[in-house]
Amino acid sequence: MPGIVIIGTQWGDEGKGKIVDLLARDAAMVVRFQGGNNAGHTIVRDGEEFKFHLIPSGILHPGKTCVIGNGVVVDPSVLIGELDGLRRRRVDVGGLRLSANAHLIMPYHVMLDTAGEAKLGKLEIGTTKRGIGPCYADKSARLGIRVQDLLDPKILRKKIAAALEPKQQLLRPFARDPKLDLHAMTEEYLSYGHRLEPHIADTSRLCWDALDSDQTVLFEGAQAAMLDLDHGTYPFVTSSNPIAGAACVGAGVGPTDIDEVWGVCKAYATRVGAGPFPSELTDEVGVHLRDRGHEFGTTTGRERRCGWLDLVALRYATRLNRLSTLAITKLDVLSGLDPLRVAVRYRGSEGAVFEEFPYHQSILHSAKPEYEDYPGWEGDISGCRSEADLPAEARDYLAAISDNVGVAVGVIGVGPGREQVISTGVRAG
Ligand code: GDP
Ligand code: IMO
Ligand code: MG
Repeated sequence: MPGIVIIGTQWGDEGKGKIVDLLARDAAMVVRFQGGNNAGHTIVRDGEEFKFHLIPSGILHPGKTCVIGNGVVVDPSVLIGELDGLRRRRVDVGGLRLSANAHLIMPYHVMLDTAGEAKLGKLEIGTTKRGIGPCYADKSARLGIRVQDLLDPKILRKKIAAALEPKQQLLRPFARDPKLDLHAMTEEYLSYGHRLEPHIADTSRLCWDALDSDQTVLFEGAQAAMLDLDHGTYPFVTSSNPIAGAACVGAGVGPTDIDEVWGVCKAYATRVGAGPFPSELTDEVGVHLRDRGHEFGTTTGRERRCGWLDLVALRYATRLNRLSTLAITKLDVLSGLDPLRVAVRYRGSEGAVFEEFPYHQSILHSAKPEYEDYPGWEGDISGCRSEADLPAEARDYLAAISDNVGVAVGVIGVGPGREQVISTGVRAG
């Protein structure tokens, strides 16, 4: 003990990587428990930018064990590329451990993701096209290939053949792609197995050992609550559960191992891909947020849609995750905007008022936010290192968020740099 889960409360890209890196200073282990290389987590160390897609955001701290848990879907070529890139930058990756039970993203998953989106046409989800959905679908259908299968050539070949067979029809447009040749694919994945073998482990056991000897373990969420397969804006979601409860399943620990849940929230809101986003701004304020916040996807480079902070959605995320602490990032991006608006409730198309996040998709699609306004502030706050350094209006804005959702703020982000944070000293409530 303690186990600390860190999750996104909005639609992703809240700055989870930076907060994990910060809290990892006092932890022994950092564990990714869901998602795959649809994630892009950024850390800026001494002006140098690192983007992690699969490797946990604790890897920049020497000596930490960084675990890719069983709940993650792993594209081995991406993982190897990330490992090689970090080695070139002289980052020690010896502490990386990869669950033998994690599922592998195969070339046909990436093709099916692309084909599925093309088929949906105007109704597309806007996925990252990394094969995430098809890989989780095969896992549920019990046709998945796991990391441990890389270590047995006979089993690997048999499993790939069995997984390919029911997809022949769907894969017809890709029939000539050499990547789909059974022999070539088996050989390619066996070579990944040789590279990854030193990292493969029973990672659930590693978590148990660390927690049992009173070490701190961080569970690093990818994506966010509003992209949750069960609780998010379905079908415009990802194919895993990014909420805190999934940390137990995706790492192989028990619910009583979790002591704190940190929710990371931008001081405004963004979304990449399609789907409802009630507080979206399509005017010049939205453009201002995108430009000032550099809101372009870490994984796909797509423009992020921007809007005001949505407290209806944040209260929903607070409930789903039973948040103990909030980390509010990118407060610096709001400097110079006046007034600042926050959505506090929605109004449905027939006038009904929604204080709670509506469960019905049609209502959410037509919901209009109602705002409360707060005075903004002028000037650069990126050099502030204590709450007292912040303008009174910034402190009031943070207090309004915290009061509305009933969760204390533990960390405030005032810039992309590792050191550009304010710790309030507040821990789990
Ligand atoms: P993640 O997916 O939740 O880890 O977030 P991303 O890394 O995809 O996106 C967050 C972006 O905001 C990255 O470019 C970070 O470097 C940057 N960032 C994080 N915290 C802050 C902050 O407090 N202020 C500013 N200006 N940028 C931040
Ligand atoms: P991090 O961890 C933002 C979005 C995609 C799409 C939907 C489904 O960096 O916050 P998928 O490829 O998962 O099937 O796409 O989810 N999405 C993300 N948006 N940040 C992410 O990760 C995301 N991962 C997936 O844009 O709308
Ligand atoms: Mg991201």
